[in-house]
Amino acid sequence: MAKLVVLAVLASLISTVSCQSWTWSIYRSWGYPSPTWGTPWTYNSAPATWTTPPPPPSSNGLKVGYYADHNCSNAENIVRAAVEKASAGILAGLIRLAFHDCFVRGCDASVLLEGSDTEKQGFPNLSLRGFGIIDAAKDALEKECPGVVSCADIVSFAARDASYILSYKKINYTVPAGRFDGKVSFANETLGQNLPPPFADLATLKRMFADKGLDPTDMVVLSGAHSIGISHCPSFSDRVNPPASPSPSMDSDLAKKLNQTCDTPNNATTTVPQDSVTPDALDSQYYKNVMSGKVLFTSDAALNSSETLELVKKYAGSDDWNTAFGAAMVKMGYIGVKSSKEGEIRKKCGVINKS
Ligand code: HEM
Ligand SMILES: *[C@@H]1O[C@H](CO)[C@@H](O)[C@H](O)[C@H]1NC(C)=O
Ligand SMILES: *[C@@H]1O[C@H](CO)[C@@H](O)[C@H](O)[C@H]1NC(C)=O
Ligand SMILES: *[C@@H]1O[C@H](CO)[C@@H](O)[C@H](O)[C@H]1NC(C)=O
Ligand SMILES: *[C@@H]1O[C@H](CO)[C@@H](O)[C@H](O)[C@H]1NC(C)=O
Ligand SMILES: *[C@@H]1O[C@H](CO)[C@@H](O)[C@H](O)[C@H]1NC(C)=O
Ligand SMILES: *[C@@H]1O[C@H](CO)[C@@H](O)[C@H](O)[C@H]1NC(C)=O
Repeated sequence: MAKLVVLAVLASLISTVSCQSWTWSIYRSWGYPSPTWGTPWTYNSAPATWTTPPPPPSSNGLKVGYYADHNCSNAENIVRAAVEKASAGILAGLIRLAFHDCFVRGCDASVLLEGSDTEKQGFPNLSLRGFGIIDAAKDALEKECPGVVSCADIVSFAARDASYILSYKKINYTVPAGRFDGKVSFANETLGQNLPPPFADLATLKRMFADKGLDPTDMVVLSGAHSIGISHCPSFSDRVNPPASPSPSMDSDLAKKLNQTCDTPNNATTTVPQDSVTPDALDSQYYKNVMSGKVLFTSDAALNSSETLELVKKYAGSDDWNTAFGAAMVKMGYIGVKSSKEGEIRKKCGVINKS
């Protein structure tokens, strides 16, 4: 009997330790060249002595109503008209695009660039969507005021308009604009380098957001975007497959359901809603889901830690979150903004201008 207890303790210790080494293996089936297959992943961009995060991003000269002052007073209406044509899923994709754009090389539309080795091809990109809406808005804008509106601003406006629609008009913020478009985009700067992976723990999340000048509150508030849209099975299969599960914190009914829906852990075609309670509403249901274990990723479940639980409780089901989300999106929109000296106004959002 005593031996059995010792064995059980040992087994749980071993499994705890193995959970500390982040692994890419859950993505193995996606067909991407492995960044570090088999190698444990740690986020290492900051020095070991890192104590003070960079200052929060400042407005960098951006201005609400920028295009009214730049001979394109219709700019935001034109973007909105394009966004209004999108389905709920594409609207979710547009909000995610803003996040992926801003976290990699700043909000400079680098996420939109086409090429064999750009962020768009970056690992893993399966669920990036909404590009067609951005292109439609750009085409309309080039007719109305050619060469004036940056793709980076279109991405920011579109995320705002998508939030407005998916929140049933409860999220309604203004977007400071005047960003210029970048000329560089690398696939190897996406997941794990600048974008947190779904298996990140709280310390990693805090650090990856801090590296962009965003604090833990911003991180908690922005994570609420996981109340819309979808995920592919490999992004959470580590939490569903019982033998490998590092997280007993998933609601057991949800885990069972996901295990059945996904069939095999590496099923990269099946998708499930992020928020099974209110799948298409951008709302604070997410925080209730965090507390009840009805979230998909380790990064979502991590918010139930004592350090962030007060915030989660505060936002759960509260309309206060709507204002907080708008403010956090604006702050995120300041990350690494480029001036006219560092960037350009692209003619087509998928390619840099010919010099
Ligand atoms: C906190 C760290 C975050 C992690 C680890 C993370 C990770 C992920 C993953 C793995 C997916 C699903 C990909 C797939 O399998 O298809 C996803 C989807 C999504 N994420 Fe995040 N994300 C984070 C933060 C954010 C932020 C800050 C936003 C926006 C403000 C956001 C918005 C979304 C949206 C809207 C979707 C659904 C996209 C769609 O349906 O097309 N996420 N995220
Ligand atoms: C707006 O257009 C007018 C006339 O075409 C031009 O003189 C002016 O410089 C433009 N303003 C800006 C901010 O581009
Ligand atoms: C994602 O990358 C794959 C492989 O590199 C590529 O075929 C696909 O078009 C990319 N998806 C998007 C949305 O660009
Ligand atoms: C959203 O904000 C705009 C201006 O900031 C205002 O005109 C509009 O009435 C607001 N919409 C709602 C539903 O509050
Ligand atoms: C990322 O890819 C680019 C272009 O392929 C390359 O020049 C650069 O060295 C790579 N960076 C890293 C850290 O591997
Ligand atoms: C579901 O659970 C079984 C074991 O109980 C496991 O073999 C299978 O890989 C799991 N499926 C997924 C999608 O994790
Ligand atoms: C979240 O944390 C609270 C407080 O510690 C706990 O009661 C609850 O069971 C946790 N939820 C999950 C899903 O772990």
